Amino acid sequence: MTAEPVVGVVTGASSGIGRATAHLLAGRGAHLTLIARGRGPLEETAIECRAAGAASVHVMTVDVGDSEALEAAIREIQSTHGRIDVAVQSAGVVAYGPFVDIPAAVFDGVLRVNVLGSANLARSVLPGMRERGRGSFVLIGSVIGAIAVPQMSPYVVSKWAIRSLARELQLENRDCRGVNVTCVTPGSVDTPIYLQAANYDGHVGRPPPPVVSPERAARAVIKAIDRPRRTVDVGAANKLMRVGFTLLPRVFDALVGPLFSVSGRDQARAAPGPGNVFESQAALNRVHGEQGSSVVATARAVGTKAVHLLRRD
Ligand SMILES: NC(=O)c1ccc[n+]([C@@H]2O[C@H](COP(=O)([O-])OP(=O)(O)OC[C@H]3O[C@@H](n4cnc5c(N)ncnc54)[C@H](OP(=O)(O)O)[C@@H]3O)[C@@H](O)[C@H]2O)c1
Repeated sequence: MTAEPVVGVVTGASSGIGRATAHLLAGRGAHLTLIARGRGPLEETAIECRAAGAASVHVMTVDVGDSEALEAAIREIQSTHGRIDVAVQSAGVVAYGPFVDIPAAVFDGVLRVNVLGSANLARSVLPGMRERGRGSFVLIGSVIGAIAVPQMSPYVVSKWAIRSLARELQLENRDCRGVNVTCVTPGSVDTPIYLQAANYDGHVGRPPPPVVSPERAARAVIKAIDRPRRTVDVGAANKLMRVGFTLLPRVFDALVGPLFSVSGRDQARAAPGPGNVFESQAALNRVHGEQGSSVVATARAVGTKAVHLLRRD
């Protein structure tokens, strides 16, 4: 007897980690529903997933921050397939800039997508999983959910919230052994999220080294589904950052600003604006960020800073 195909839903499926995860689930012959706001790149992802072997692919343009629309979408999937086995919340947005320079609406917008979007998906899928006694719910958090980074306040707050939401859901679903909630916590991943970000920092953001591929982050999601656990960490420097933040807060605070300024910001200037926080910028959605080597960019930024310092003397 052959196993039934998995019924999976991926939010943020048109770009980066979500798109790479959709490819892997498709390769396993899943029935897939792909969710994001912009239609074009979602349709492209659907074509890729059909080619990779998905049993079926359905595309839905839904804003995860809109609880009613998301609930209706999930109900539609459940009535088509009778269940949802796997739900991956990968929709997410970023804003850069000093806290006081980020407009309140943008701050709230990041929390709406990242935090309320995660809660909305949990509220929509977990009751069905509990009823059947089976299911995997995966939240994409971040190493940033356990540390602090300057110039990213709404994102940092949102990732701490996602980590705590995951822990709450794990506690509340202990009675249902077949229902698993995992928080996947990547460090830097080479996706377009840095180019998509709202920006009030003056410089384009970039992933600081060490950077992993979205395919590697997607494999961590699959690992979470296959061998459930509370957290799956992705990134060679994550542990070091968490230990530094927790055990050596003064050293961490002294270093994180200068390190972020050379490794997490591009030399290219950015005009102020809300990026994709309120609306999809679909043309930028793709699997990889394509911003070039983070090591080379960091070395260049260090060089530029050194030249500035020498000229001042
Ligand atoms: N890249 C990294 O370095 C990194 C590191 C740690 C954690 N993460 C986390 O990983 C997750 C995925 O990030 P990524 O890097 O893959 O980003 P990405 O490439 O920018 O993809 C984000 C996806 O979310 C969708 N999206 C954004 N807002 C949405 C909304 N309101 N409703 C529905 N879909 C929405 C986007 O499509 P539309 O805009 O068309 O809706 C896109 O499909 C995020 O939670 C991010 O915080 C990323």
